[in-house]
Amino acid sequence: MKVAESIAEFRKLRADLAEPVGFVPTMGYLHVGHLSLVREARERSASVVASIFVNPSQFAPTEDLAAYPRDLDRDLALLEAEGADLVFVPEAEEMYPDGYDTWIAVEELTTRLEGASRPTHFRGVATVVGKLFVIVEPQIAVFGQKDAQQALVIDRLIRDLGFAIELVVAPTIRESDGLAMSSRNTYLEPDERVGATVLRQSLLLAERLYADGERSAKMIRSRMQELIASEPLVEPVYVSLADVTTLEELETIDRKALVSLAAKVGVTRLIDNIVLPPGEGLL
Ligand code: PAF
Repeated sequence: MKVAESIAEFRKLRADLAEPVGFVPTMGYLHVGHLSLVREARERSASVVASIFVNPSQFAPTEDLAAYPRDLDRDLALLEAEGADLVFVPEAEEMYPDGYDTWIAVEELTTRLEGASRPTHFRGVATVVGKLFVIVEPQIAVFGQKDAQQALVIDRLIRDLGFAIELVVAPTIRESDGLAMSSRNTYLEPDERVGATVLRQSLLLAERLYADGERSAKMIRSRMQELIASEPLVEPVYVSLADVTTLEELETIDRKALVSLAAKVGVTRLIDNIVLPPGEGLL
């Protein structure tokens, strides 16, 4: 496995890779969820590229970029064990050189859900992912369904800018009690960690209600909210049942829908989602 820190060095090494190239962008501090994305890329591609870059532009000034967990040596060992061929690990100055002034904004889609409380977040994500696509030139890119809105934003970006990239959305990997894997789970206190499982339970409740024939989005949202409210350590930010393409809230579930939520558990913000009908992919 080769590692490149600069764009120039990366391009030299990239030229030797067998095609097609599958790409997994990450912010590091890898867990089994990330590794499942690498595995997915491995299965679909002749070569696998990963990037590790804690992207400053997707953090708001109020969010603690410096505190984001990092462990580069461990990450590289995990990627090597998973069969990655080339890893791009730029510093912020390499990605955002002095005077940087070029941004990618996916507009409408990013006003909702995560975008409503993190208004600059997706501009940062779209910009860095767009730039990584230009540098890495992958044929396949793998993102996790856990960040469903992010995957939809990247889908929009690929279509709108005409990247010749197949977007693969891999299923959410969960802890044994159902909590979606996230680097942020490490911030949770033991009692918060237990309380956080109510988030998955509320998604399963939505799935059960849907299976029983309930099609009122309002009814399902309010039953989920009730369940989440029963857990005092969890403070919901939103509970949404939306059209999976536009993310507009639904009244009736008469098409494929994204059931998603965000909640604060102590100081930690967690997200999770499912697609209805069960078994349908996000895209
Ligand atoms: O999902 C993430 O880890 C990040 O948002 C990404 C896609 C690597 C862009 O910085």
